[in-house]
Amino acid sequence: MKFKRTHTCGELRAEHVGQDVALAGWVASWRDHGGLIFIDLRDRYGLTQLVFSPERAAEAHKTAATLRTEYVIAVRGKVNARPKGTVNKELATGEIELDAAEIEVLNPSLTPPFEIEDRTEVAEEVRLRYRYLDLRRPAMRRHLMSRHRIVKSIRDYFSQQGFIEVETPCLTKSTPEGARDFVVPSRIYHGSFYALPQSPQLFKQLLMVAGFDRYFQIARCYRDEDPRADRQVEHTQLDLEMSFVDPDDIMELLEEVLQKICKAELGREIHTPFRRIAWHDAMRLYGTDKPDLRFAMQLADITDIAAEAEFKVFRNVVEKGGIVRGICAPGGGRYTRRQIESDLTDYVARFGAKGLAWMKLEGGKLTSSIAKFFSTAQHDEIIERLDAKDGDLLLFVADTEPVVSQALGQLRVRLGTELELYDPGEICFCWVVDFPMFGWNEEEQRPDPLHHPFTSPVDEDLARLEAEPLEVRAKAYDVVLNGVELGGGSIRIHRRDIQQRVFSLIHIDEEEAQNKFGFLLEALQYGAPPHGGIALGIDRLVMLLLGRSTIRDVIAFPKTQRGQDLMTGAPCSISPEQLKELGLKT
Ligand code: AMO
Ligand code: AMP
Repeated sequence: MKFKRTHTCGELRAEHVGQDVALAGWVASWRDHGGLIFIDLRDRYGLTQLVFSPERAAEAHKTAATLRTEYVIAVRGKVNARPKGTVNKELATGEIELDAAEIEVLNPSLTPPFEIEDRTEVAEEVRLRYRYLDLRRPAMRRHLMSRHRIVKSIRDYFSQQGFIEVETPCLTKSTPEGARDFVVPSRIYHGSFYALPQSPQLFKQLLMVAGFDRYFQIARCYRDEDPRADRQVEHTQLDLEMSFVDPDDIMELLEEVLQKICKAELGREIHTPFRRIAWHDAMRLYGTDKPDLRFAMQLADITDIAAEAEFKVFRNVVEKGGIVRGICAPGGGRYTRRQIESDLTDYVARFGAKGLAWMKLEGGKLTSSIAKFFSTAQHDEIIERLDAKDGDLLLFVADTEPVVSQALGQLRVRLGTELELYDPGEICFCWVVDFPMFGWNEEEQRPDPLHHPFTSPVDEDLARLEAEPLEVRAKAYDVVLNGVELGGGSIRIHRRDIQQRVFSLIHIDEEEAQNKFGFLLEALQYGAPPHGGIALGIDRLVMLLLGRSTIRDVIAFPKTQRGQDLMTGAPCSISPEQLKELGLKT
């Protein structure tokens, strides 16, 4: 480099007019205005307009004429005020331009496969293949900078609160969070494998046994599951654990840090405490354990009405022990019969619903092909229970409870968006509490922890752990933001005998428990304090605060929906020598 930059491309203002400065950056755009060449020079900090005049700087002007977008250059020259009428108010540096005196081309560039600007129509595969170019786009840069600030405020906050950040290993033993493990073969012990952590769960518990009292970590977690819009095979958590606490202590800290982040990053006041909803109520009223509370539209039960009515479809389901629930879509009367019977019905079919019964409330009357199967009194009762108004659409699913909940819960979210029932910019946190300890694993015919097996049952329920496992409540809590599960945590089991009982219940016998978690069971006998914690998905938090619809937009180098890194080509094969060394055959 012949000369070094004195300022960045986002820095120069009217007060710099008259100064000799130097800038370096990328050619963002290039215009030849009959003699004068204008270039927008870009770096991480912004854009500055450069002017090359054939009279004032003949040599530099000649070089400027050879530039193409994304060339890296350094320029030296004088800051001028822009002529009246050419000031750009949209641009932080819009009052000035740099009259170039000297230029150095630091590196040319191939023509990029897409334009480096925010409005890009290019396929995501191409963006991921050339991620380093995609990250040059101002929007992506803003996302990563925002992410940096959010993570920094998390670190600052928890450090101030007396937490210490401790790193835990990535090459370790399986830590069950309900996903498949990624494994790494050992070179020294052929046939043995490390597992990448699904979370630092057991290590943070051991840090509590070690007496650290308040731990946090910005932790990488690895889960071999199919990626989705809000799921990656590797993600980042704010992971924390505390000793001698109850759920309220943890929830209050989380509320405060989230409140501070919303204020600092979005300038928004979030009210605390967040609303709390019991798991059973969330399932009953919203059909999900992660309710979007930006709008009402609650599910209403009409099983008792259906049991008495003439409508065969409903009656058959109720007779077999099923249930019937409905939702009322405000203003949904504008959906055509076709839209309801093909589009919406196909949508609920994805979640197992065998049909979607519907009625419209028009002129105070319920209309539809099935209305005749219900008495006038039943009509009135349905209108009241679903709180229907003229112009609304009432939709019903009859099935087992899980199918009804999922189908209507998902339909509710879809209709809420389509009917614009909420402001997309709203931020609505809530806690889901009073979780059951277990669900039922149909395939393996055993209770399955709703969180993980280290979650503590509620003390009063301990006595019926074996007798009525599905009735046992957990000391667990999830934080939900706009219908997305943002984080989950619990008070943990800190006594060996209880941990062993939970393992037995989920069909992990003593030998297997010893094999997999012997180190934890042992540690619990050396003075393990009562403790609990939570983990928050950082990718999801940043995605939601920035109003993005996929976490890939807030991760520098994400993987595709098929788990590939299109830029590096991972995963890829390894050499026969490597395989041999690891004692592996493929
Ligand atoms: P859990 O498994 O609920 O809890 O994870 C906590 C949070 O991490 C985020 N998350 C993910 N984000 C992106 N991609 C994924 N594949 C993914 N999986 C999870 C979610 C989720 O709410 N050890 C426990 C926490 C505890 O008990 O303290 C745990 O990991 O936002
Ligand atoms: P059918 O008698 O099967 O033609 O159904 C009449 C109406 O009931 C249609 O609108 C179906 O979509 C609806 N329907 C069928 N099965 C169910 C179900 N399990 N739950 C809700 N609606 C259903």
